[in-house]
Amino acid sequence: MKNYKLDFPIFENNPGLVYLDNAASAQKPGYVIDGIKHFLEHDYANIHRGAYNLSEKSEELYENSKKKVAEFIKASSWQEINYTYNSTYAFNLLTSSFKKSGILKKWDKVLLSIVEHHANIVPWLILKEEIGIEVDFVNVDKDYNLDLDDLKNKLDSSVKVVSLTYVSNVTGVIFDLERVALTLTLSQRERGLNEKPIFILDASQAVPHFRVDIEKINCDFMIFTAHKVMADTGLGVLYWKKELLKKLTPAWWGGWSINWVRKEEFSPSWLPFRFEPGTPNITWAVSLLKALEYIEQIWGYEEIEKKEKELVKYFLEKLEKFKWKIELIWSYKLDNRIWVFTFHIAWMNSSDIADIMAENKICVRAGHHCTEPLMDNCWVKTTFRVSLYFYNDLEDIDKFFDVLEKKILI
Ligand SMILES: Cc1ncc(COP(=O)(O)O)c(C=O)c1O
Repeated sequence: MKNYKLDFPIFENNPGLVYLDNAASAQKPGYVIDGIKHFLEHDYANIHRGAYNLSEKSEELYENSKKKVAEFIKASSWQEINYTYNSTYAFNLLTSSFKKSGILKKWDKVLLSIVEHHANIVPWLILKEEIGIEVDFVNVDKDYNLDLDDLKNKLDSSVKVVSLTYVSNVTGVIFDLERVALTLTLSQRERGLNEKPIFILDASQAVPHFRVDIEKINCDFMIFTAHKVMADTGLGVLYWKKELLKKLTPAWWGGWSINWVRKEEFSPSWLPFRFEPGTPNITWAVSLLKALEYIEQIWGYEEIEKKEKELVKYFLEKLEKFKWKIELIWSYKLDNRIWVFTFHIAWMNSSDIADIMAENKICVRAGHHCTEPLMDNCWVKTTFRVSLYFYNDLEDIDKFFDVLEKKILI
């Protein structure tokens, strides 16, 4: 196996570090760090309306970043890509724009899954409070796949939005979204409805691990957060279909989202900048461009998936020995998953486990992982989560199990 850690300076600067918290945020390769430095040293200026060379170069890189995202997810144009600050902000931007545009009204229903991250729950609960929409949750089956029968049963004519994660940040299970899209189409036909519910996808845990194909999934909106895919923090991506963009009124205005302003009124600018008021995060847009270029350089998602599969297999084999002492909450399956494992040890506090791991230079995360409705459903309050990325190696897994065996399960 190629040693990808060599591409990431954090490992050289922290000898012995075992970083198993990748679902929270990924480390940055030298290529991204150097790319940001190069941009700030050579090409930085504010974008939009600058006639000089530097501003044009900066703007070109900002657009190139969106073009690369569009190419990666197969969007039809880079103008369908909006930048926000993170996934949470993207959801809030979307829900407040839905409210402002009158797309959702009292008693309209939004369907989520029970495994959603709070980022895809709280903004809808705010609309429930503010305009009286209903929010309901679709269950998962025994393997933690989305329960399509439950989805079908809940898809009545009041459902205006279905908003789902692609992959749970706790179970690691990948939902079969092509079947979800088909279910939405069939249900619309069976019920003789004019319109399908708006389909929103939270791809925050998917984009770092495998190719997300918008064409195949046919969703209306897709959201992810750049720091989980090796770019820096402070940048979220919101893809939306152009036709829908025209129907939406932004929740906030200013800067490049405005064409002209008089004392009494203003006129909106052209799409898609209407949804990016003020100076955008240009440097972090460049960092995302560099992160996606880095994925291309290492032979793309094929390489990431291959490497992660080997690691999952090795991890599950090692776990066999401890199965009777430790409860892996959620899937033991090898396929259809990303490298996230969440555990519960009934007789021990998960924060204490994370502390012991930390004392041994192993980074894991304890808590509810911003998925409290899921935790409530499973009757657990907190768990500890181990999440790898392609730059981890077998030695990291050995060290984790070694500490688990000798210092925790004693
Ligand atoms: C599935 C999922 N959605 C949304 C988010 C929120 O991402 P951010 O904190 O960057 O907004 C996370 C972060 O862990 C996540 O795992």
